[in-house]
Amino acid sequence: MTVGRYDESNNSQEIAAANLQVNKLLNYHIKSSLDAKPFDFIKEHFFNERVEKLLSKVQLYEFTDKKLIMSLIRGNKKVLNLLNKYDIELEINIKNLESITNVHLNPTLEIAYGIMEELSSFIRFSVSDKKAVIRGAIFHDFGKVLIPDNVLNSKNKLNTNERKIVELHAQLGYELLKASKQFDEKTLNIIRNHHKFIDGSGYPENKIELDILTHIITAADIYTALREKRSYKESISSEKALEIMENLVKSNKLSKIVYDALKKLIENKKAKQI
Ligand SMILES: [Fe+2]
Ligand SMILES: [Fe+2]
Repeated sequence: MTVGRYDESNNSQEIAAANLQVNKLLNYHIKSSLDAKPFDFIKEHFFNERVEKLLSKVQLYEFTDKKLIMSLIRGNKKVLNLLNKYDIELEINIKNLESITNVHLNPTLEIAYGIMEELSSFIRFSVSDKKAVIRGAIFHDFGKVLIPDNVLNSKNKLNTNERKIVELHAQLGYELLKASKQFDEKTLNIIRNHHKFIDGSGYPENKIELDILTHIITAADIYTALREKRSYKESISSEKALEIMENLVKSNKLSKIVYDALKKLIENKKAKQI
């Protein structure tokens, strides 16, 4: 009996200790799930972290390694054929890309993301849509690494052949980044079609159903380009840039809802770099 009583008391001590352990674990799980779940929920459903934070995840420099680009070109018949067709000597111009990061890519990202936020009041964008717009904004002109410097940064008006060479950047960027296997279809579409308009004009010449994500980048890209000072032109005011874009809406090249969102964004000075 004594033994039994001893055993009993020992058991209850063990049970108490076990209960304490279980409670600790439960508390830990409850606490950690409270810590984690709201954050995951916000990330999944609202994804409203600002662009700067997202930029840190989308780094252009990871792809501006000459060896990496060469490996994407090597054996890539589509890229080699395009270069051959236009007599372009294979040269990788990382500097071209780096020099447009602050003056063009980052502002395009700010504006594109801002347009998307404006449109969010009546269009539901998924997390992958938002990621595609961010990646698309940073990488849309990636193909410029293969465009000869004297053509890309020419101070003179381009002739027809030179213009066609510059226009190749959309297709080249698409082919290169597709070969990297690091980009999803939505982002690749943006890169290939960011110079297409809703009436089907623009380049490359392909029949596509223009998607809203690409069109957001197109609008942000045009506005940013108009505002920039480039080798062949001066910067123009935001009012004038909007006026030019309004004419593109009237000629059925730009969507009115995307233009209205851009206009609202500019007039309320919601994007930083404009
Ligand atoms: Fe472009
Ligand atoms: Fe661009």
